[in-house]
Amino acid sequence: MSDEVLRLRGVAVRRETSMLLRSIDWTAHEDERWIVIGPNGAGKTTLLQVAATLLFPTEGTVEVLGQRLGEVDVFDLRPRIGLTSAALAERVPAGEKVIDLVLTASYAILGRWKEEYESADVTRAVELLDALGCAHLIRRRFATLSEGERKRVQIARALMPDPELLLLDEPAAGLDLGGREDLLQRLSQLARNPKAPMMVLVTHHVEEVPDGFTHAMLLRRGSVLAAGPVADVFTARNLSKCFGIPLEIEYRRSRWSAFASPGGRPPGTPRLPAAVLAVASRGRRAVGEIPGREGVAGTLRRAPVPCTCRVVRAE
Ligand SMILES: Nc1ncnc2c1ncn2[C@@H]1O[C@H](COP(=O)(O)OP(=O)(O)OP(=O)(O)O)[C@@H](O)[C@H]1O
Ligand SMILES: [Mg+2]
Repeated sequence: MSDEVLRLRGVAVRRETSMLLRSIDWTAHEDERWIVIGPNGAGKTTLLQVAATLLFPTEGTVEVLGQRLGEVDVFDLRPRIGLTSAALAERVPAGEKVIDLVLTASYAILGRWKEEYESADVTRAVELLDALGCAHLIRRRFATLSEGERKRVQIARALMPDPELLLLDEPAAGLDLGGREDLLQRLSQLARNPKAPMMVLVTHHVEEVPDGFTHAMLLRRGSVLAAGPVADVFTARNLSKCFGIPLEIEYRRSRWSAFASPGGRPPGTPRLPAAVLAVASRGRRAVGEIPGREGVAGTLRRAPVPCTCRVVRAE
């Protein structure tokens, strides 16, 4: 049996005149854990909705857990997929108790009514909440929880039907530093568990990538900029292109961090020579020449006055 969990070929999603996704090719295997990262509006949530079988693409083919969309009853497929998202949290009925929110995932419904649950289901729901540090919240109403508590309860709910695919849309958004770090540690443990489902985590920040995630996709304007093993994809050049500003990226103690390049230099361009900096620091508009690839222009944004440099010859 193939270990492919997701297989997208030539996937496009169009809404009126807008292309939300275009030409997406993506294969993800069960032992991989994927990060999908990109700026606001890049199409991350749209892509996750396609993977969750909630959205049918305008073009292309989608296979989820070996089943091809269009040829399978999605209602059979959906219980095998766990999803957490802000949109889902907003649809939780006002009075819903935490334990019921997790239990009702067995029927893929929101809002407990008259369904019967076996004691094994209740035990599993309690164990999952406990594993996510939420045992003390079981009798609380979901609406009264803090943002961090809600995120953890949602993950417990997503895991309840023992899914083969877990989709997490910005699980760390809105959390304070302690809450974020706590959640990342739990996700990291999950990612390292070979029995855990294949996971896809959407985020805007490389700082929110839990250790143990193996692959990354960079999305920009509905297209894949880069995809593959995390270390190959998370480069200054790729991230700068993805977010549209010069960025640098570091990997330290199993975590990534990214920040704007000093002076706004695109990664890989040489620093301005001392003579140009000296002119700029005296408060005059400066134009200088720097060694590098001929024809490439750079701007020294941190200088006291705008300072343009022209690259004249290769180093
Ligand atoms: N029904 C629609 N009609 C037109 N445009 C839409 C529709 N739904 C979404 N979009 C647009 O598609 C683009 C991608 O949306 P999507 O929610 O997938 O982005 P995202 O990467 O998840 O962004 P964010 O980081 O802000 O959550 C956005 O520009 C959005 O405005
Ligand atoms: Mg989104």
